[in-house]
Amino acid sequence: MIKEKKDFIIMGIETSCDDTAVAIVKNGREILADKIISSATEQAKFGGVVPEIASRAHTEAILDATKQALKESNLTFNDIDGFAVTYGAGLLGALLVGVSFAKGLSYATNKPLIPVNHIRGHISAAYLQDKNLQPPFITLLVSGGHTAIIDVKSYDEFEVLGGTLDDAVGEAFDKVARVLGLSYPGGPNIEREAKTGKNSVKLPKMLKGKGGYNFSYSGLKTAVINHVHKLKQKGEEVNIADVACSFQCSAIDVLALKAVKAVKEKKYNTLTIGGGVAANGYLRESLTKACEKEKIKLVLPEKRYCTDNGAMIAAEGSIQFRKKNFADITLNAVASIPLRETLK
Ligand code: KG4
Ligand code: ZN
Repeated sequence: MIKEKKDFIIMGIETSCDDTAVAIVKNGREILADKIISSATEQAKFGGVVPEIASRAHTEAILDATKQALKESNLTFNDIDGFAVTYGAGLLGALLVGVSFAKGLSYATNKPLIPVNHIRGHISAAYLQDKNLQPPFITLLVSGGHTAIIDVKSYDEFEVLGGTLDDAVGEAFDKVARVLGLSYPGGPNIEREAKTGKNSVKLPKMLKGKGGYNFSYSGLKTAVINHVHKLKQKGEEVNIADVACSFQCSAIDVLALKAVKAVKEKKYNTLTIGGGVAANGYLRESLTKACEKEKIKLVLPEKRYCTDNGAMIAAEGSIQFRKKNFADITLNAVASIPLRETLK
């Protein structure tokens, strides 16, 4: 009888936005290689991601990223047990580069093609950070497209406890950055400015203390825009650092508060975070303090694994690999997937 191989190695491929990312992960937990080639500097010239530039950049970078990942891990395609790829959500043309590339690899090597949902990838980044992490736990998902509190009941069973009623928090960071004349991507630039600023501008704390686990960011965004426009109309100088700091406090405080409340209400002991905004230092500090106080275990993925990366796709791909949830050669990219469908 042939003995079943215990260890398995998955390659994760991510091209949903402006990062061409390829990583190799063992048993869903151990990162053997992790490469990211970003077109963010190129995109910054245009003040945001230009879909066509992203697709072209992926086409140029994807083979290089893959070769570099294999070299870093000292592996060949023979050692890879499956190819996990983000099929959605994201920019259609950008996704198609990764999907087509992964299909080629799967076809040529006769190894499984594993379709991965990008948002589930963000949730699974926590499994790379804490090798013993097991559901159930609460995840605070804060990315460019989503803001939600999710009850992760098992590796494959979720309940959305609440989400944004309008804009996502990352989107608000990017829009406020633009109004303040800060370049793309907005989040890290707001965070940098906020470090030297004071929380002195009165802004609404959206749905703080109400609205259950829901969030709302459009009112906060509008309040910042109105504040800046009023000062400009009066010919007064805008203190960018103070506005950035005040906005950051308003946007983040409510996230930390509601995430901790959810863990307590569900009587869990663990909170994880995922998505680009989880790289924000102020959010990380606020959650650390709140979780210490409430004796909640906090799993904070390294900043690199909060923003888009291939390792999180390989981690989620590993969960699907165990379930033998494979795609065939007709796999296609999907631009938009509602959160509840993503997590069903
Ligand atoms: O998860 P992500 O890389 O892509 C999506 O799946 O959306 O998230 C991107 C978002 C952007 O809105 C970006 O401004 C925000 O994450 N972001 C941050 C920080 N780093 C990235 N927001 C606040 N502070 C940061 N340090
Ligand atoms: Zn993302």
